Amino acid sequence: MSKLHIVANRLPYSLKKEADGYELVESVGGLATGMKSVYTEYGGKWIGWSGVNSDELSPQESDAIDQKLLEKSCVTVPLSEQEILEYYEGFSNKTVWPLFHYFTQYVDYSPVNWEAYKRVNQRFADRVLEVAEDGDRVWVHDYQLLLVPEMIKSKKPNVTVGFFLHIPFPSYEVFRILPWRMELLKGMLGADLLGFHIYDYERHFLSSVRRLYGYEIAFNEIHADDRIIKADSFPMGIDYAKFKSTSASVMQKTIPERSELHKELEKYFMTSPDRRLILSIDRLDYTKGIPQRLKAFRKFMEKYPEFHGKVTLVMLAVPSRGQVEEYMMLKKEVDELVGNINGTYGNINYTPVWYFYRAMPFENLVELYNMSDVALITPLRDGMNLVAKEYVASRGNQTGVIVLSEMAGVAKEMGEAIIINPINEDEIAEALYRALTMPLDEQKQRMGYLQERIQRYSVFKWAGEFVDALENVKRIQKEFLVK
Ligand code: ADP
Ligand code: G6P
Repeated sequence: MSKLHIVANRLPYSLKKEADGYELVESVGGLATGMKSVYTEYGGKWIGWSGVNSDELSPQESDAIDQKLLEKSCVTVPLSEQEILEYYEGFSNKTVWPLFHYFTQYVDYSPVNWEAYKRVNQRFADRVLEVAEDGDRVWVHDYQLLLVPEMIKSKKPNVTVGFFLHIPFPSYEVFRILPWRMELLKGMLGADLLGFHIYDYERHFLSSVRRLYGYEIAFNEIHADDRIIKADSFPMGIDYAKFKSTSASVMQKTIPERSELHKELEKYFMTSPDRRLILSIDRLDYTKGIPQRLKAFRKFMEKYPEFHGKVTLVMLAVPSRGQVEEYMMLKKEVDELVGNINGTYGNINYTPVWYFYRAMPFENLVELYNMSDVALITPLRDGMNLVAKEYVASRGNQTGVIVLSEMAGVAKEMGEAIIINPINEDEIAEALYRALTMPLDEQKQRMGYLQERIQRYSVFKWAGEFVDALENVKRIQKEFLVK
Protein backbone atom coordinates (compact mmCIF):
# COMPACT_ATOMS: atom_id res chain seq x y z
CA MET A 1 0.00 0.00 0.00
CA SER A 2 1.50 3.35 -0.98
CA LYS A 3 2.02 5.78 1.87
CA LEU A 4 0.79 9.34 2.16
CA HIS A 5 3.27 11.86 3.55
CA ILE A 6 2.30 15.31 4.76
CA VAL A 7 4.57 18.31 4.19
CA ALA A 8 3.86 21.59 5.97
CA ASN A 9 6.05 24.33 7.36
CA ARG A 10 4.63 23.79 10.85
CA LEU A 11 4.61 20.34 12.46
CA PRO A 12 1.59 19.41 14.62
CA TYR A 13 3.91 19.76 17.62
CA SER A 14 6.29 22.66 18.21
CA LEU A 15 9.17 22.99 20.63
CA LYS A 16 9.13 25.73 23.21
CA LYS A 17 12.29 26.80 24.96
CA GLU A 18 12.03 26.47 28.76
CA ALA A 19 14.65 27.14 31.44
CA ASP A 20 15.51 23.42 31.65
CA GLY A 21 15.38 22.47 27.96
CA TYR A 22 12.74 22.14 25.25
CA GLU A 23 9.10 21.24 25.81
CA LEU A 24 6.82 19.74 23.16
CA VAL A 25 3.57 21.72 22.78
CA GLU A 26 0.66 21.35 20.38
CA SER A 27 0.88 23.82 17.49
CA VAL A 28 -1.93 26.34 17.06
CA GLY A 29 -3.53 27.45 13.77
CA GLY A 30 -6.08 25.83 11.49
CA LEU A 31 -3.61 23.73 9.48
CA ALA A 32 -1.98 22.07 12.48
CA THR A 33 -5.13 21.61 14.61
CA GLY A 34 -7.07 20.18 11.66
CA MET A 35 -4.45 17.93 10.05
CA LYS A 36 -3.29 16.57 13.40
CA SER A 37 -6.50 14.56 13.62
CA VAL A 38 -5.90 12.77 10.32
CA TYR A 39 -2.22 12.45 9.46
CA THR A 40 -1.49 9.19 11.27
CA GLU A 41 -4.30 7.43 9.38
CA TYR A 42 -2.35 7.16 6.15
CA GLY A 43 0.83 5.44 7.33
CA GLY A 44 3.28 8.17 6.30
CA LYS A 45 5.33 10.90 7.94
CA TRP A 46 4.72 14.61 8.55
CA ILE A 47 7.70 16.60 7.33
CA GLY A 48 8.10 20.12 8.77
CA TRP A 49 9.87 22.60 11.01
CA SER A 50 9.94 22.18 14.78
CA GLY A 51 9.59 25.90 15.52
CA VAL A 52 13.11 26.35 16.98
CA ASN A 53 16.19 28.16 15.76
CA SER A 54 18.67 25.41 14.79
CA ASP A 55 21.66 27.74 15.50
CA GLU A 56 20.81 27.54 19.19
CA LEU A 57 20.88 23.73 19.35
CA SER A 58 23.87 21.58 20.13
CA PRO A 59 24.15 18.42 17.97
CA GLN A 60 22.97 16.37 20.97
CA GLU A 61 19.95 18.61 21.54
CA SER A 62 19.12 18.51 17.87
CA ASP A 63 19.26 14.68 17.82
CA ALA A 64 17.12 14.46 20.93
CA ILE A 65 14.48 16.73 19.39
CA ASP A 66 14.48 14.81 16.11
CA GLN A 67 14.05 11.57 18.03
CA LYS A 68 11.20 12.95 20.16
CA LEU A 69 9.37 14.12 17.05
CA LEU A 70 10.05 10.94 15.10
CA GLU A 71 8.17 9.06 17.83
CA LYS A 72 5.18 11.10 16.68
CA SER A 73 5.87 10.24 13.01
CA CYS A 74 7.31 13.70 12.38
CA VAL A 75 10.48 14.35 10.35
CA THR A 76 12.13 17.69 11.04
CA VAL A 77 13.51 20.27 8.64
CA PRO A 78 15.91 22.56 10.53
CA LEU A 79 15.79 26.34 10.06
CA SER A 80 18.62 28.67 11.08
CA GLU A 81 18.08 32.15 12.52
CA GLN A 82 18.76 33.71 9.11
CA GLU A 83 16.30 31.38 7.40
CA ILE A 84 13.64 32.09 9.98
CA LEU A 85 14.15 35.79 9.31
CA GLU A 86 14.19 35.60 5.51
CA TYR A 87 12.05 32.61 4.60
CA TYR A 88 9.53 32.34 7.47
CA GLU A 89 9.11 35.88 8.80
CA GLY A 90 10.25 37.32 5.47
CA PHE A 91 8.91 35.92 2.22
CA SER A 92 6.19 33.71 3.78
CA ASN A 93 4.79 36.17 6.29
CA LYS A 94 5.75 39.59 4.92
CA THR A 95 5.12 38.86 1.25
CA VAL A 96 2.79 35.94 0.47
CA TRP A 97 0.60 36.16 3.61
CA PRO A 98 -0.32 39.86 3.30
CA LEU A 99 -0.65 39.73 -0.50
CA PHE A 100 -2.95 36.68 -0.51
CA HIS A 101 -5.09 38.34 2.22
CA TYR A 102 -5.35 41.57 0.18
CA PHE A 103 -3.14 43.62 2.55
CA THR A 104 -1.09 44.97 -0.34
CA GLN A 105 0.14 47.92 1.76
CA TYR A 106 2.05 45.48 4.01
CA VAL A 107 3.80 43.52 1.23
CA ASP A 108 7.58 43.51 1.28
CA TYR A 109 9.28 42.85 -2.06
CA SER A 110 12.72 41.77 -0.88
CA PRO A 111 14.76 39.77 -3.46
CA VAL A 112 16.94 38.50 -0.59
CA ASN A 113 13.87 36.95 1.08
CA TRP A 114 12.78 35.46 -2.24
CA GLU A 115 16.16 33.72 -2.61
CA ALA A 116 15.84 32.33 0.91
CA TYR A 117 12.29 31.12 0.15
CA LYS A 118 13.59 29.18 -2.87
CA ARG A 119 16.46 27.66 -0.88
CA VAL A 120 14.29 26.58 2.03
CA ASN A 121 11.58 25.19 -0.25
CA GLN A 122 14.33 23.12 -1.91
CA ARG A 123 15.42 21.87 1.53
CA PHE A 124 11.86 20.72 2.28
CA ALA A 125 11.63 19.04 -1.13
CA ASP A 126 14.97 17.26 -0.61
CA ARG A 127 13.77 15.94 2.74
CA VAL A 128 10.59 14.66 1.09
CA LEU A 129 12.62 12.99 -1.64
CA GLU A 130 14.61 11.11 1.02
CA VAL A 131 11.43 9.89 2.73
CA ALA A 132 9.04 9.24 -0.20
CA GLU A 133 9.43 6.19 -2.40
CA ASP A 134 8.22 5.79 -5.98
CA GLY A 135 4.46 5.25 -5.94
CA ASP A 136 3.94 7.10 -2.63
CA ARG A 137 1.67 10.10 -2.33
CA VAL A 138 2.81 13.44 -0.93
CA TRP A 139 0.39 16.08 0.29
CA VAL A 140 2.02 19.54 0.48
CA HIS A 141 0.33 22.26 2.53
CA ASP A 142 0.08 25.99 2.40
CA TYR A 143 1.68 29.21 1.29
CA GLN A 144 5.11 28.69 2.84
CA LEU A 145 5.81 25.82 0.41
CA LEU A 146 4.39 26.92 -2.93
CA LEU A 147 7.49 25.79 -4.85
CA VAL A 148 7.73 22.34 -3.31
CA PRO A 149 5.25 20.45 -5.59
CA GLU A 150 7.33 21.15 -8.71
CA MET A 151 10.59 20.47 -6.89
CA ILE A 152 9.31 16.99 -6.00
CA LYS A 153 7.64 16.23 -9.33
CA SER A 154 10.67 17.15 -11.41
CA LYS A 155 12.83 14.64 -9.50
CA LYS A 156 10.31 11.86 -8.86
CA PRO A 157 7.48 11.98 -11.41
CA ASN A 158 6.09 8.71 -10.05
CA VAL A 159 5.25 10.29 -6.72
CA THR A 160 1.69 11.63 -6.77
CA VAL A 161 1.64 15.17 -5.41
CA GLY A 162 -1.35 16.95 -3.87
CA PHE A 163 -1.31 20.55 -2.70
CA PHE A 164 -3.76 22.33 -0.40
CA LEU A 165 -3.81 26.08 0.19
CA HIS A 166 -5.17 27.00 3.64
CA ILE A 167 -5.42 30.71 2.91
CA PRO A 168 -7.31 32.60 0.16
CA PHE A 169 -5.92 32.64 -3.36
CA PRO A 170 -6.37 36.28 -4.39
CA SER A 171 -7.93 37.72 -7.48
CA TYR A 172 -5.58 37.89 -10.50
CA GLU A 173 -5.42 41.70 -10.22
CA VAL A 174 -3.78 41.29 -6.82
CA PHE A 175 -1.70 38.19 -7.58
CA ARG A 176 -0.18 39.81 -10.66
CA ILE A 177 1.47 42.49 -8.46
CA LEU A 178 4.06 39.98 -7.29
CA PRO A 179 7.33 40.07 -9.26
CA TRP A 180 7.73 36.29 -8.76
CA ARG A 181 4.18 35.36 -9.81
CA MET A 182 5.29 33.08 -12.69
CA GLU A 183 7.68 31.11 -10.48
CA LEU A 184 5.08 30.65 -7.73
CA LEU A 185 2.48 29.34 -10.18
CA LYS A 186 5.03 27.02 -11.78
CA GLY A 187 5.82 25.63 -8.35
CA MET A 188 2.16 24.98 -7.57
CA LEU A 189 1.55 23.40 -10.98
CA GLY A 190 3.98 20.62 -10.07
CA ALA A 191 1.05 19.13 -8.12
CA ASP A 192 -1.38 16.68 -9.71
CA LEU A 193 -4.26 18.05 -7.65
CA LEU A 194 -4.61 21.51 -6.10
CA GLY A 195 -7.18 22.04 -3.36
CA PHE A 196 -8.73 25.27 -2.07
CA HIS A 197 -11.25 25.89 0.72
CA ILE A 198 -13.88 27.47 -1.53
CA TYR A 199 -14.73 27.79 -5.20
CA ASP A 200 -13.83 31.52 -5.31
CA TYR A 201 -10.16 30.81 -4.49
CA GLU A 202 -10.04 27.99 -7.05
CA ARG A 203 -11.57 30.30 -9.66
CA HIS A 204 -8.98 33.02 -8.91
CA PHE A 205 -6.18 30.49 -9.21
CA LEU A 206 -7.43 29.12 -12.53
CA SER A 207 -7.81 32.63 -13.86
CA SER A 208 -4.17 33.43 -12.98
CA VAL A 209 -3.00 30.20 -14.63
CA ARG A 210 -4.94 30.99 -17.79
CA ARG A 211 -3.73 34.59 -18.01
CA LEU A 212 -0.11 34.04 -17.04
CA TYR A 213 0.59 30.67 -18.69
CA GLY A 214 -2.12 30.59 -21.35
CA TYR A 215 -2.96 26.93 -20.59
CA GLU A 216 -6.27 25.59 -21.75
CA ILE A 217 -8.67 25.01 -18.88
CA ALA A 218 -11.71 22.77 -19.24
CA PHE A 219 -13.91 23.10 -16.13
CA ASN A 220 -11.36 22.43 -13.43
CA GLU A 221 -8.80 20.54 -15.52
CA ILE A 222 -5.67 22.34 -16.60
CA HIS A 223 -4.04 21.04 -19.78
CA ALA A 224 -0.45 22.02 -19.08
CA ASP A 225 1.76 20.98 -21.99
CA ASP A 226 1.80 17.17 -21.64
CA ARG A 227 0.10 16.89 -18.23
CA ILE A 228 -3.38 17.13 -16.79
CA ILE A 229 -3.65 18.91 -13.46
CA LYS A 230 -6.83 19.27 -11.47
CA ALA A 231 -8.03 22.02 -9.14
CA ASP A 232 -11.01 21.68 -6.83
CA SER A 233 -12.54 23.05 -3.67
CA PHE A 234 -12.59 21.11 -0.40
CA PRO A 235 -13.90 23.13 2.56
CA MET A 236 -11.84 21.94 5.52
CA GLY A 237 -13.77 20.52 8.49
CA ILE A 238 -12.95 19.79 12.13
CA ASP A 239 -12.86 16.73 14.36
CA TYR A 240 -16.52 17.31 15.24
CA ALA A 241 -16.93 14.27 17.51
CA LYS A 242 -13.96 15.35 19.65
CA PHE A 243 -15.43 18.81 20.34
CA LYS A 244 -18.91 17.39 20.91
CA SER A 245 -17.82 14.70 23.36
CA THR A 246 -15.34 16.92 25.24
CA SER A 247 -18.01 19.56 25.57
CA ALA A 248 -20.47 17.02 27.03
CA SER A 249 -17.88 15.60 29.42
CA VAL A 250 -16.59 18.94 30.80
CA MET A 251 -20.15 20.05 31.48
CA GLN A 252 -20.97 16.81 33.32
CA LYS A 253 -18.11 17.20 35.78
CA THR A 254 -18.98 17.59 39.46
CA ILE A 255 -18.14 20.95 41.08
CA PRO A 256 -14.81 19.87 42.64
CA GLU A 257 -13.69 18.30 39.33
CA ARG A 258 -14.27 21.48 37.31
CA SER A 259 -11.44 23.66 36.04
CA GLU A 260 -10.74 27.05 37.63
CA LEU A 261 -11.96 28.76 34.47
CA HIS A 262 -15.20 26.78 34.51
CA LYS A 263 -15.81 27.77 38.15
CA GLU A 264 -15.12 31.44 37.40
CA LEU A 265 -17.52 31.38 34.46
CA GLU A 266 -20.22 29.86 36.66
CA LYS A 267 -19.68 32.54 39.28
CA TYR A 268 -20.06 35.18 36.58
CA PHE A 269 -23.43 33.80 35.47
CA MET A 270 -24.63 33.31 39.05
CA THR A 271 -24.42 37.04 39.93
CA SER A 272 -27.37 37.80 37.66
CA PRO A 273 -29.62 35.60 35.49
CA ASP A 274 -29.41 37.96 32.50
CA ARG A 275 -25.64 38.02 32.22
CA ARG A 276 -24.24 37.14 28.80
CA LEU A 277 -20.84 36.17 27.36
CA ILE A 278 -19.54 37.03 23.91
CA LEU A 279 -16.52 35.01 22.77
CA SER A 280 -13.76 35.85 20.36
CA ILE A 281 -10.83 33.50 19.61
CA ASP A 282 -7.99 33.86 17.12
CA ARG A 283 -4.27 34.08 16.60
CA LEU A 284 -3.27 37.73 17.06
CA ASP A 285 -3.18 38.52 13.35
CA TYR A 286 -4.09 41.68 11.42
CA THR A 287 -6.24 39.61 9.04
CA LYS A 288 -8.60 38.75 11.91
CA GLY A 289 -10.12 42.24 12.29
CA ILE A 290 -9.53 42.43 16.06
CA PRO A 291 -9.32 46.25 16.42
CA GLN A 292 -12.46 46.67 14.28
CA ARG A 293 -14.20 44.08 16.47
CA LEU A 294 -13.24 45.91 19.67
CA LYS A 295 -14.41 49.23 18.24
CA ALA A 296 -17.71 47.62 17.25
CA PHE A 297 -18.09 46.30 20.81
CA ARG A 298 -17.40 49.80 22.10
CA LYS A 299 -20.12 51.15 19.78
CA PHE A 300 -22.48 48.50 21.11
CA MET A 301 -21.76 49.61 24.70
CA GLU A 302 -22.31 53.25 23.70
CA LYS A 303 -25.59 52.54 21.99
CA TYR A 304 -27.10 50.02 24.42
CA PRO A 305 -26.38 51.15 27.99
CA GLU A 306 -28.96 48.65 29.27
CA PHE A 307 -26.29 45.96 28.67
CA HIS A 308 -23.67 47.60 30.90
CA GLY A 309 -22.74 45.23 33.68
CA LYS A 310 -24.50 42.38 31.88
CA VAL A 311 -22.36 41.60 28.85
CA THR A 312 -18.69 40.60 28.79
CA LEU A 313 -16.50 40.01 25.77
CA VAL A 314 -14.01 37.19 26.40
CA MET A 315 -11.19 37.73 23.97
CA LEU A 316 -8.54 35.05 23.48
CA ALA A 317 -5.60 35.88 21.26
CA VAL A 318 -2.71 33.47 20.76
CA PRO A 319 0.66 35.15 20.22
CA SER A 320 1.66 34.72 16.58
CA ARG A 321 4.64 35.83 14.43
CA GLY A 322 5.66 38.30 17.13
CA GLN A 323 8.91 39.27 15.38
CA VAL A 324 7.09 40.73 12.37
CA GLU A 325 6.55 44.48 12.77
CA GLU A 326 2.86 44.59 11.76
CA TYR A 327 2.08 41.99 14.43
CA MET A 328 3.92 44.04 17.10
CA MET A 329 1.96 47.15 16.12
CA LEU A 330 -1.29 45.21 16.25
CA LYS A 331 -0.51 43.97 19.76
CA LYS A 332 -0.05 47.55 20.92
CA GLU A 333 -3.27 48.72 19.29
CA VAL A 334 -5.28 45.86 20.83
CA ASP A 335 -3.80 46.47 24.31
CA GLU A 336 -4.78 50.13 24.06
CA LEU A 337 -8.31 49.47 22.85
CA VAL A 338 -8.98 46.91 25.58
CA GLY A 339 -7.67 49.41 28.17
CA ASN A 340 -9.84 52.14 26.71
CA ILE A 341 -13.05 50.07 26.79
CA ASN A 342 -12.43 48.71 30.28
CA GLY A 343 -11.48 52.19 31.53
CA THR A 344 -14.63 53.74 30.06
CA TYR A 345 -17.28 51.13 30.88
CA GLY A 346 -15.79 49.06 33.68
CA ASN A 347 -16.20 49.46 37.42
CA ILE A 348 -15.08 47.62 40.52
CA ASN A 349 -17.60 44.81 39.88
CA TYR A 350 -17.53 44.71 36.13
CA THR A 351 -14.85 44.29 33.43
CA PRO A 352 -16.37 44.53 29.92
CA VAL A 353 -13.45 42.81 28.12
CA TRP A 354 -11.58 39.82 29.54
CA TYR A 355 -8.45 39.62 27.42
CA PHE A 356 -6.15 36.57 27.42
CA TYR A 357 -3.00 36.82 25.32
CA ARG A 358 -1.99 33.15 25.33
CA ALA A 359 -2.87 29.68 24.05
CA MET A 360 -5.49 27.85 26.13
CA PRO A 361 -5.61 24.15 26.98
CA PHE A 362 -8.13 22.28 24.86
CA GLU A 363 -10.60 21.69 27.71
CA ASN A 364 -10.72 25.40 28.58
CA LEU A 365 -11.26 26.26 24.95
CA VAL A 366 -14.24 23.91 24.83
CA GLU A 367 -15.63 25.28 28.13
CA LEU A 368 -15.57 28.76 26.64
CA TYR A 369 -17.26 27.58 23.45
CA ASN A 370 -19.88 25.80 25.51
CA MET A 371 -20.63 28.62 27.93
CA SER A 372 -20.62 31.64 25.59
CA ASP A 373 -23.90 32.97 24.24
CA VAL A 374 -22.40 34.57 21.14
CA ALA A 375 -19.32 33.84 19.01
CA LEU A 376 -18.02 37.04 17.44
CA ILE A 377 -15.89 36.14 14.40
CA THR A 378 -14.98 39.14 12.27
CA PRO A 379 -11.88 38.53 10.08
CA LEU A 380 -11.12 41.04 7.33
CA ARG A 381 -9.99 38.00 5.27
CA ASP A 382 -9.77 34.37 6.30
CA GLY A 383 -9.22 31.27 4.16
CA MET A 384 -11.73 29.25 6.20
CA ASN A 385 -11.89 29.96 10.01
CA LEU A 386 -12.22 26.74 11.96
CA VAL A 387 -13.14 28.54 15.20
CA ALA A 388 -16.68 29.05 13.84
CA LYS A 389 -17.01 25.29 13.26
CA GLU A 390 -15.55 24.44 16.68
CA TYR A 391 -18.14 26.71 18.34
CA VAL A 392 -20.97 24.92 16.51
CA ALA A 393 -19.67 21.47 17.50
CA SER A 394 -19.40 22.43 21.19
CA ARG A 395 -23.00 23.70 21.60
CA GLY A 396 -24.52 20.77 23.50
CA ASN A 397 -27.95 22.39 24.01
CA GLN A 398 -28.14 23.87 20.49
CA THR A 399 -28.39 27.48 21.65
CA GLY A 400 -25.85 30.19 20.79
CA VAL A 401 -25.51 32.63 17.92
CA ILE A 402 -22.60 33.29 15.57
CA VAL A 403 -21.89 36.79 14.27
CA LEU A 404 -19.72 36.06 11.24
CA SER A 405 -17.72 38.02 8.69
CA GLU A 406 -18.68 37.55 5.06
CA MET A 407 -14.91 37.60 4.30
CA ALA A 408 -14.27 34.22 5.95
CA GLY A 409 -14.40 31.12 3.73
CA VAL A 410 -16.62 29.47 6.35
CA ALA A 411 -19.42 32.00 5.69
CA LYS A 412 -20.26 29.99 2.56
CA GLU A 413 -21.34 27.10 4.80
CA MET A 414 -23.02 29.17 7.50
CA GLY A 415 -26.01 31.00 6.11
CA GLU A 416 -27.70 30.62 9.52
CA ALA A 417 -25.12 32.86 11.24
CA ILE A 418 -25.66 36.63 11.37
CA ILE A 419 -23.44 37.68 8.47
CA ILE A 420 -21.70 41.07 8.70
CA ASN A 421 -19.15 43.18 6.84
CA PRO A 422 -16.14 43.28 9.23
CA ILE A 423 -15.32 46.92 8.42
CA ASN A 424 -18.81 48.09 9.28
CA GLU A 425 -18.71 48.73 13.03
CA ASP A 426 -22.33 49.89 13.19
CA GLU A 427 -23.51 46.73 11.48
CA ILE A 428 -21.52 44.57 13.93
CA ALA A 429 -22.93 46.50 16.93
CA GLU A 430 -26.47 45.90 15.61
CA ALA A 431 -25.69 42.24 14.95
CA LEU A 432 -24.56 41.90 18.57
CA TYR A 433 -27.83 43.36 19.78
CA ARG A 434 -29.75 40.98 17.53
CA ALA A 435 -27.71 38.00 18.70
CA LEU A 436 -28.13 38.86 22.38
CA THR A 437 -31.89 39.27 22.05
CA MET A 438 -32.59 36.38 19.67
CA PRO A 439 -35.38 34.10 21.01
CA LEU A 440 -34.17 30.65 22.10
CA ASP A 441 -36.39 28.86 19.59
CA GLU A 442 -34.80 30.72 16.71
CA GLN A 443 -31.29 30.08 18.09
CA LYS A 444 -32.00 26.36 18.30
CA GLN A 445 -33.42 26.19 14.83
CA ARG A 446 -30.40 27.94 13.30
CA MET A 447 -27.87 26.01 15.37
CA GLY A 448 -29.62 22.72 14.53
CA TYR A 449 -29.09 23.27 10.81
CA LEU A 450 -25.49 24.36 11.35
CA GLN A 451 -24.69 21.31 13.46
CA GLU A 452 -26.16 18.93 10.92
CA ARG A 453 -24.10 20.46 8.11
CA ILE A 454 -20.78 20.86 9.95
CA GLN A 455 -21.00 17.37 11.47
CA ARG A 456 -21.49 15.78 8.06
CA TYR A 457 -18.29 17.22 6.57
CA SER A 458 -15.68 16.52 9.27
CA VAL A 459 -11.92 16.84 8.82
CA PHE A 460 -11.80 13.06 8.20
CA LYS A 461 -14.28 13.34 5.36
CA TRP A 462 -12.37 16.35 4.00
CA ALA A 463 -9.05 14.49 3.97
CA GLY A 464 -10.70 11.34 2.58
CA GLU A 465 -12.23 13.26 -0.30
CA PHE A 466 -8.95 14.98 -1.11
CA VAL A 467 -7.08 11.66 -1.15
CA ASP A 468 -9.79 10.02 -3.30
CA ALA A 469 -9.62 12.95 -5.72
CA LEU A 470 -5.84 12.50 -5.90
CA GLU A 471 -6.33 8.85 -6.91
CA ASN A 472 -8.88 9.95 -9.45
CA VAL A 473 -6.46 12.41 -11.07
CA LYS A 474 -3.97 9.60 -11.56
CA ARG A 475 -6.65 7.66 -13.46
CA ILE A 476 -7.51 10.68 -15.63
CA GLN A 477 -3.82 11.29 -16.37
CA LYS A 478 -3.37 7.66 -17.49
CA GLU A 479 -6.39 7.86 -19.81
CA PHE A 480 -5.00 11.09 -21.25
CA LEU A 481 -1.65 9.43 -21.99
CA VAL A 482 -3.34 6.47 -23.72
CA LYS A 483 -5.20 8.90 -26.03
P1 ADP B 1 -5.91 30.30 11.61
O1 ADP B 1 -5.64 29.05 10.88
O2 ADP B 1 -5.76 31.53 10.77
O3 ADP B 1 -5.17 30.44 12.88
P2 ADP B 1 -8.49 29.09 12.30
O4 ADP B 1 -9.69 29.69 12.96
O5 ADP B 1 -8.81 28.30 11.08
O6 ADP B 1 -7.48 30.29 12.01
O7 ADP B 1 -7.75 28.11 13.29
C1 ADP B 1 -7.31 28.51 14.55
C2 ADP B 1 -7.09 27.25 15.39
O8 ADP B 1 -6.28 27.62 16.52
C3 ADP B 1 -8.39 26.68 15.93
O9 ADP B 1 -8.33 25.26 15.85
C4 ADP B 1 -8.44 27.17 17.37
O10 ADP B 1 -9.06 26.27 18.25
C5 ADP B 1 -6.97 27.31 17.72
N1 ADP B 1 -6.80 28.44 18.67
C6 ADP B 1 -7.07 29.72 18.41
N2 ADP B 1 -6.84 30.48 19.51
C7 ADP B 1 -6.44 29.65 20.47
C8 ADP B 1 -6.04 29.83 21.84
N3 ADP B 1 -5.98 31.02 22.43
N4 ADP B 1 -5.68 28.74 22.52
C9 ADP B 1 -5.69 27.52 21.92
N5 ADP B 1 -6.05 27.30 20.66
C10 ADP B 1 -6.41 28.35 19.93
C1 G6P C 1 -2.48 29.75 9.44
C2 G6P C 1 -1.65 29.23 8.27
C3 G6P C 1 -0.81 28.04 8.72
C4 G6P C 1 0.02 28.41 9.93
C5 G6P C 1 -0.88 28.96 11.05
C6 G6P C 1 -0.09 29.41 12.27
O1 G6P C 1 -3.37 28.77 9.81
O2 G6P C 1 -2.52 28.88 7.21
O3 G6P C 1 0.05 27.62 7.68
O4 G6P C 1 0.74 27.29 10.42
O5 G6P C 1 -1.62 30.06 10.54
O6 G6P C 1 0.92 30.30 11.92
P1 G6P C 1 2.48 29.99 12.17
O7 G6P C 1 3.18 31.10 11.46
O8 G6P C 1 2.63 30.03 13.65
O9 G6P C 1 2.78 28.64 11.64
